Amino acid sequence: MNESIAPGAVTVTAEFAALHQHAQQARQWRLEDLFRQNPDRFPRFTLEAAGLFLDYSKNHLDDQTMRLLADVARARGVETLREAMLAGQAVNLTEQRPALHTLLRAPLDQPFLLAGRNLMDEVGDTLARMTDFATRVREGRWTGAEGRRITDVVNIGIGGSDLGPAMSCAALRTFAHPALKLHFLSNVDPNAQQAVLDPLDPATTLFIIASKTFTTQETMLNAHAARAWFLQRADAVQLPKHFVAVSANGEAVADFGIAPSNWFPFWDWVGGRYSLWSAIGLPLMIAVGPEHFRAFLAGAHAMDTHFQTAPLERNMPALLGMIGFWYRECFGTASQLIAPYDQDLHLFPAYLQQLEMESNGKRIKRDGQPVGTRTAPVIWGTAGTNGQHAYFQLLHQGTDLIPVDFIATLTPRQAPESQHTVLLAHCFAQAEALMQGKRTSDDGQALPPHRCLPGNRPSNMLLMDALTPATLGALIALYEHKTFVQGALWQINSFDQWGVELGKRLADRIRSELDGAAAVHPHDSSTAGLIARARTRQT
Ligand code: F6P
Repeated sequence: MNESIAPGAVTVTAEFAALHQHAQQARQWRLEDLFRQNPDRFPRFTLEAAGLFLDYSKNHLDDQTMRLLADVARARGVETLREAMLAGQAVNLTEQRPALHTLLRAPLDQPFLLAGRNLMDEVGDTLARMTDFATRVREGRWTGAEGRRITDVVNIGIGGSDLGPAMSCAALRTFAHPALKLHFLSNVDPNAQQAVLDPLDPATTLFIIASKTFTTQETMLNAHAARAWFLQRADAVQLPKHFVAVSANGEAVADFGIAPSNWFPFWDWVGGRYSLWSAIGLPLMIAVGPEHFRAFLAGAHAMDTHFQTAPLERNMPALLGMIGFWYRECFGTASQLIAPYDQDLHLFPAYLQQLEMESNGKRIKRDGQPVGTRTAPVIWGTAGTNGQHAYFQLLHQGTDLIPVDFIATLTPRQAPESQHTVLLAHCFAQAEALMQGKRTSDDGQALPPHRCLPGNRPSNMLLMDALTPATLGALIALYEHKTFVQGALWQINSFDQWGVELGKRLADRIRSELDGAAAVHPHDSSTAGLIARARTRQT
């Protein structure tokens, strides 16, 4: 067994044993045979919800597989935990917090009481303030200190305070205000700072400092650098027209020198990687406008309602979660490819990397015991068709089984339409080729081994009629809930991220050692050697 999997902790219930028993046969199946045996396979294994269409028929599964997976999900409390999360219980056990991102997109007129407070009041107030601010920026009524219109908005944040706004602004590019450019500064690398700031005019630039904690080192260094850059070119009294903050830590925002009127709050019951729906979405609202932002929230809410009410067997997030679990648990797959055949979704795989890997990259269950099995796979991907000319070779003829989620939009947003047709044809063709493979030439001759494609490689196909604020909202919510379902199946807490803390602490120590400000601590010889080499280069 892999060393990172602590042995002996899998709870082998009857449901789990039955699934593994069934997998022994399922691993022998060929996908084309499943289609041949069941002419209704496509209608049976497709589903529509919240403006999204999912075809999961090209997977190694049948009715029994789905029944057994749903049995395991029920036995592991997926439905109970779903209710607990939506009801605001402290499902984030290690931090004793609820995970209530679904509230941020719920109807404002339906009260939600937690510890005697109606949380919808706070959500509504912040949304109203965001709406007012975004509208003023968009209409040129919130100007720079010299009275000039804002032309550039720079979001400074990292992780959940960057990936969501950056991904969604790219995805909804065609809905954006034509005279406003959005920029995203996340990396602590000063090259990133320079690339963003150099071309900008401080008189027409607005900075949004986005950090839930307002203590994240990268964000604070970039925020201080942006302020210094601004003050080299403008006066300190001008700062309030050019710097606003989004954070759950009002005190730290005030210490940074941003007034409460320029602070858009959110709350500790919103996880960083689930925060795009909160004021962290301010760059998106500025870009596409409050009305589109509300449609984005409504699309996510439609998916929430589906997730809450549909039985697991007809529940899109549950299906995606259970199918991913099936491959990881019973086929030993190590990664999951996300292949959006829509250039504007090119950042979606990167967004999902944080969502899924930070949420479910865990090895300890909620009860403190080791999981004893594999948890989150590596999530990766880029936009099609580019991937076809890079790594698809490995998907077709490599030795690993890599499940793929294809995502495509049916309606073109740009001319020429014929080119969009080519894009879609490639998307469907890849899914078909992965499944069918090829062992004979077109005239029936056996192909030499190096030209054979084994096929039998699975994929999901997610279609949207069009990429709109509403369908994007639904798509993101779909993957949030898929992640939740998998976390519940693995019995882990999907809402903490203790694994990232050690690196942060060691980096602080090594930084002072690199500076020469501190004596070098005992390190392994590799780390010590690297520090010594860097010190000689820097002096
Ligand atoms: O390092 C991980 C993390 O805590 C993420 O979970 C979070 O999205 C990111 O850092 C940024 O945190 P913050 O919004 O507090 O700056």
